[in-house]
Amino acid sequence: MRTMVPLRTAASKAIPVAMVLMALAILVGDLRTDVVVNVGVLYIAVVLMSARIYMARGVIVVTLGCAVLTLVGYLLSPGDQWSVAAIANRFLGLAAMGSVTFLALRDKSAQQALRQAQTELAHASRLTAMGQLTASIGHEVRQPITSSIINARAALRWLDRPTPDLEEAKEALAHIVDDANRASEVLNRIRDLARKALPRQELLDVNGTVRELIELTSSEAIKNGISVKIELVEGLPPVLGDRVQLQQVILNLVVNAVEAMSETSESFRELRVSTAQTPSGDVLVEVRDSGPGVRPDGFDQLFEAFHTTKPSGLGLGLSICRSIVQAHGGQLWASANEPRGAIFHFTVPTQSGGATP
Ligand SMILES: Nc1ncnc2c1ncn2[C@@H]1O[C@H](COP(=O)(O)OP(=O)(O)OP(=O)(O)O)[C@@H](O)[C@H]1O
Ligand SMILES: [Mg+2]
Repeated sequence: MRTMVPLRTAASKAIPVAMVLMALAILVGDLRTDVVVNVGVLYIAVVLMSARIYMARGVIVVTLGCAVLTLVGYLLSPGDQWSVAAIANRFLGLAAMGSVTFLALRDKSAQQALRQAQTELAHASRLTAMGQLTASIGHEVRQPITSSIINARAALRWLDRPTPDLEEAKEALAHIVDDANRASEVLNRIRDLARKALPRQELLDVNGTVRELIELTSSEAIKNGISVKIELVEGLPPVLGDRVQLQQVILNLVVNAVEAMSETSESFRELRVSTAQTPSGDVLVEVRDSGPGVRPDGFDQLFEAFHTTKPSGLGLGLSICRSIVQAHGGQLWASANEPRGAIFHFTVPTQSGGATP
């Protein structure tokens, strides 16, 4: 499966500048050569560059701009403007530009349809993974509600006294406000995960992103007799990416790890999620489990779409994870854990170092 919407890079900011410079160079070249020589045909390169970074409307605007420059070149170049060769060359140049624009726009609309389908698929798979964690999510929401009920009862008791203790009642009410804020934060996170939105780019603190997701999912793991350990290296540089998409990757890896460990009869069950920085500067996230692991010849197949060993699995989780990680310019791979289990590692480049998306 191919990547999700590729994130914008520094290169995409340089392209408009390169386009303008190239268009000016072509115009100068066109004005200096005889009108019969249609240097303006080179504007096609500008149109193709615009198709790399702009939506359909932008490409059309660039094409029209190039057509105007072609006509300016025609009118102001030295030579006989009314010669058949000059008119025919300009006409052919404009026709070629129109055809290239048409093909570029058709390609763009196919790419857009593909991206739309990928977003829909990723969303459906995220909802499936969240469905597997409803108990965990329910617990996270219920917990602050239960706590606020306890605090509300305490506040009533402090007020019901013959001499009401206003200080204690105030403190209990302050706890209720904290609990309500926590519940609403949890609900916001769930809503973010469940919502279908186009990928966006923002500077992300990977540790915070991991922490939020693990908080939502850990009670499901604990319910399955799994101990959850988080080891986050502080001071990691921010990464540029989509928070929900990266949480989806961790979510899928955690769900797989929990499912794998639930299959074994071993009493030692541990899920370990860690972050670190690679020597090249990328941020590295690892999800380790102590499940049955992957057969040595099974690593190649893991990330293939529809490869599953689970009766109710779709076999899409890992292939979607890999698409998301690659769209962020990183890599996702698996290895064996010691003494047993699997480790899934993925990297995300940072602004300061590592591979660029
Ligand atoms: N942590 C793990 N330990 C052992 N095997 C794993 C682990 N994670 C994934 N696998 C293997 O890789 C296969 C593919 O995983 P993937 O997440 O793509 O699909 P799935 O979990 O089977 O289905 P779903 O589409 O619901 O996620 C799994 O069926 C399982 O055999
Ligand atoms: Mg899965």
